[in-house]
Amino acid sequence: MQNLKQHLGALLGSCLSKAAGIANSNANVITASKPEFGDYQANGVMAIAKQLQTNPRELAQKVVELIDSVNDKLIERVEIAGPGFINIHLRNDALMAKASMVLQQPNTLIPQSEQAVCIVVDYSSPNLAKEMHVGHLRGTIIGDCLARVLEKQGHEVIRQNHVGDWGTQFGMLIAYLKEVMKAPDPGSDDLPTRLADLEVFYRAARKRFDSDSEFAETSRLSVVKLQGGEPEYLQIWQRFIDESLRHCQLVYDRLNVTLSNKDLKAESFYNDGLSGIVTALEEKNLLTLSAGALCVFLPEFTGKDGDPLPVIIRKSDGAYLYATTDLAAVRYRCFDLNADRSLYVVDARQSLHFQQVFAVARVAGLASDNISLEHVTYGTMMGKDGKPFQTRSGDTIKLIELLNEACRRAFELVSDKNPDLDEAARQAIADTVGIAAVKYADLSKNRTSDYIFDWSAMLSFEGNTAPYLLYAYARIKSILSKQETALEQYSITSIDAREERDLLLKNLQLPEVIEMVATDCYPNLLCNYLYELAGKFMRFYEACPILKAELESRNSRLSLAALTAETLQQGLDLLGIETLEKM
Ligand code: ARG
Repeated sequence: MQNLKQHLGALLGSCLSKAAGIANSNANVITASKPEFGDYQANGVMAIAKQLQTNPRELAQKVVELIDSVNDKLIERVEIAGPGFINIHLRNDALMAKASMVLQQPNTLIPQSEQAVCIVVDYSSPNLAKEMHVGHLRGTIIGDCLARVLEKQGHEVIRQNHVGDWGTQFGMLIAYLKEVMKAPDPGSDDLPTRLADLEVFYRAARKRFDSDSEFAETSRLSVVKLQGGEPEYLQIWQRFIDESLRHCQLVYDRLNVTLSNKDLKAESFYNDGLSGIVTALEEKNLLTLSAGALCVFLPEFTGKDGDPLPVIIRKSDGAYLYATTDLAAVRYRCFDLNADRSLYVVDARQSLHFQQVFAVARVAGLASDNISLEHVTYGTMMGKDGKPFQTRSGDTIKLIELLNEACRRAFELVSDKNPDLDEAARQAIADTVGIAAVKYADLSKNRTSDYIFDWSAMLSFEGNTAPYLLYAYARIKSILSKQETALEQYSITSIDAREERDLLLKNLQLPEVIEMVATDCYPNLLCNYLYELAGKFMRFYEACPILKAELESRNSRLSLAALTAETLQQGLDLLGIETLEKM
């Protein structure tokens, strides 16, 4: 089903095409930049007029006449403005009817996409040698939001958690684990206690590795044994991985992130396919031997000095690299999963890696021509001092500890606001608010910029924050609870004030925002929308009494409030944020 903007875009586009005699002309319909311009405006006439070397206002006049002749049920009137803009005013009754329909069937608020496709979303994807840290937060929650949005639109979404579980670090960890367990039978120890803190464990192993050359040698041998498939090594490795994954899952559950074990496609999954990648590249004559390593050189990638940059496929010792695994993953996603789009929600610092992987995959036929490969980049999380977010001593902060602190701070806040609530209730609210605050603060920023982590800003009840939105939602729910209205009685039947109409139209614009998020992968667009929606509700609530209004407007306004609650709830859910009935 089309959203308002798509409907108007198609209608005005066809009128413009007819008037200009140019097929598929783009009327460029956007939401009106100022209220005086109506609800939407079409900016596309001027460009087409230029192309035809004709007067834009005259062309606009023809378009307007064509629109008028169609008698579209959404459009009240259109008018020409300035050099050839077309302002579009929508009919109140059409808006009310649409909104009432949504109230009867809330699942129609976000319409299904007319072209459902298969979309892979690679996100979170931590390295399992260590504990998840703050650097994993952005990718995890941005990816999760995109997966939710695309799924809601009816696309087939395949989540892929491309965890790092292979490579030299695991040799070191296995060697260390064997050493500390000192038990020849790895079944008899208690691994969870040993690995309770992966970070501490990793650091201890690293220290051993750096200071003891014999241990370093054992580590290197362990990788070889692991990669050679020796059962004892594989078994210890598997148990380490399982334990590390259990840690990740705790974080995902805590974050209300929709990843689970079934979404895992670890790097090791691709092992068996790696030699096939070499063969495929060989067949296309893409491989060059450089200092013993097999490399692909593509002319479009050069270093600072103009020298060609290699994509290393296999090192001289036979080891495969990160890029090789990613080439195998591209092939798997394209030809086994049959994806139409493959999103990689990964730190911007890996940009070059993905440009190279995508380019090699294309020339080597490891990706079909039609799959869209998209690196969805994000910037680094910074502290208030503008440096990468760390503890005072310069250590990385564990994600789980950050989340604990968020809930602790939220608890203080909630206790401040509701001293009379019992402790368990305050704790429950704080757990939701704390997590929501961390997620929303991040999702509401443009993902491509670095992001400054600031506790007091994210926990504020003012501004574009989770507490503000959750509070707005709870407030609407409390208004609704004062009046017993059965859901099927909700219907929007009158518009008296401008604030009322503004809020109504804003509610109906959620699908357009969702469409933009789905296309361009910017969750902050959805956050901005929800913030504006809550603001419009507050203005409506100030201007239009609800419970004290005459019967007809009372029911209509209650219905508008109910619609707004529904929109907020569905919007926040797409961000992975739970709402609270009371706050
Ligand atoms: N494990 C990698 C890292 O921690 C991220 C993997 C991202 N996904 C991918 N297909 N390369 O940097």
